[in-house]
Amino acid sequence: MISNTVRDALNAQINLEFSSAYAYLAAAAHFEAASLPGFAAWMRKQYEEEIAHAMRLFDHMHDRGGRVALAAITEPKADFAKPGDAFQMALGHEQKVTASIHNLYALAAKENDYATQTMLQWFINEQVEEEKNVGQVLDWLKMAGDSPVAVLMLDQKLGQRGGGAAEAAAEPEAG
Ligand code: FEO
Repeated sequence: MISNTVRDALNAQINLEFSSAYAYLAAAAHFEAASLPGFAAWMRKQYEEEIAHAMRLFDHMHDRGGRVALAAITEPKADFAKPGDAFQMALGHEQKVTASIHNLYALAAKENDYATQTMLQWFINEQVEEEKNVGQVLDWLKMAGDSPVAVLMLDQKLGQRGGGAAEAAAEPEAG
């Protein structure tokens, strides 16, 4: 049985994962409208991953006899002056998620909740990948600078996520 403290913290994490999903989906919509389908596809794939993260926590909660309580999701940022701004937003979001996962792990340890600690180890590893992948795209965007040709090439590269080189960099593990 899960303690009330861990239950509440897990519910907050579920909300954060859905908030991340919403933020990525808003960025996907922005890039679709800006005729950058590769960036949009990358953001949409990330949206799907965040939903999977939330559901992983959702399942753990119910496996342990807890109860999920869904809270309101804040409105995400919808427009970005340049592609780098959207990825900077993503990096900030991932750093926030990482800190939250670490706090959750520390809480589970304090509460002697071994099952939750084990479950969270997957998230700790996943966050290393998440931050690395966003950081890599930011590096590429810096290299592209103000060159529209370079940005279009990068758009094409990111659009390959789901089977191409970007996939290998972006998603070593499903979820
Ligand atoms: Fe679920 Fe991108 O953290």
